[in-house]
Amino acid sequence: MPVSPRDLLATRPAPATATAAAGEKPPLLELVNLWKRFGDGPSQVTAVSNVNLKIRDGEFVTLVGPSGCGKSTLFNVVGGLLPGDDDGSILMHGRPMADGALLGKVSFMPQRDLLFAWRNVIDNAILGLEVEGVPRAKARARALEMLPDFGLKGFAKHYPHQLSGGMRQRVALMRTFLFERDMILLDEPFGALDALTRAMMQRWLLDIWSRYKRTVLFITHDIDEAIFLGDRVVVMTARPGTIKCDEVIDLPRPRDPEIVTSPEFIAIKRRLLDAIEEEARKSFMPESGGA
Ligand SMILES: Nc1ncnc2c1ncn2[C@@H]1O[C@H](COP(=O)(O)OP(=O)(O)OP(=O)(O)O)[C@@H](O)[C@H]1O
Ligand SMILES: [Mg+2]
Repeated sequence: MPVSPRDLLATRPAPATATAAAGEKPPLLELVNLWKRFGDGPSQVTAVSNVNLKIRDGEFVTLVGPSGCGKSTLFNVVGGLLPGDDDGSILMHGRPMADGALLGKVSFMPQRDLLFAWRNVIDNAILGLEVEGVPRAKARARALEMLPDFGLKGFAKHYPHQLSGGMRQRVALMRTFLFERDMILLDEPFGALDALTRAMMQRWLLDIWSRYKRTVLFITHDIDEAIFLGDRVVVMTARPGTIKCDEVIDLPRPRDPEIVTSPEFIAIKRRLLDAIEEEARKSFMPESGGA
């Protein structure tokens, strides 16, 4: 039976990356030359091309890029929902991961909140634990403990249609945090919220993140949100999406909402907007330099 390069990757020892060679702890997640193509022949779409990215334990990394540049596809590959192409690899804690091995390794909140209308708040929140085989009573007890942190105290038995947009997002986020994984992927979790609710949710998420000590990779279209939340902002190019720039956000934490008016914040925003606008133009006029 033919052995694919990914099978080989799954069994061989971790390559000596620059990080490992220096004797440092390997990053929590490392993407090496990651590609993802859909289909074959002339209709093939290259969604993600040659992505190299390292995320360290405990970091909050935000990912921005023009619509259709491959952000959600990248998440689906890292979350193990889609196989990556054979020419790249994904390492967790320095160990190469085969396709099947990735599923369940990270907590994942997809672009749509995917709450089930017929399940109440608690039963929606424990879905990941149930799939994992945690007994319902135990899962519910854990979720009940978390309700106040997620601003849902008293709403355990409410159904999704009885909640506000922000509350629905917090139920979906609670599901992601309850599924205890080192890494959390959040795909535009606040995209559908009004500006005021969104700002409150950003501050709340930073508080939860610092208390629960997880590593977060967060997709957003909102550049202020990306800077306000992130330790780093990673900008993707127009499709086929690759990393255009990776900016360290050296602003003090805890982040004060007023920070968005500071000269440092505005200077970072200017630089990142230039990078994103250049890519957004390409994605609308691909013949002038894009995919
Ligand atoms: N399952 C699939 N089959 C075929 N093509 C796909 C599939 N999923 C995504 N694509 C294509 O991959 C490209 C990237 O899509 P993706 O959803 O990753 O973009 P995105 O950056 O998340 O966009 P947005 O910001 O609008 O959410 C698009 O051209 C899309 O049509
Ligand atoms: Mg998307």
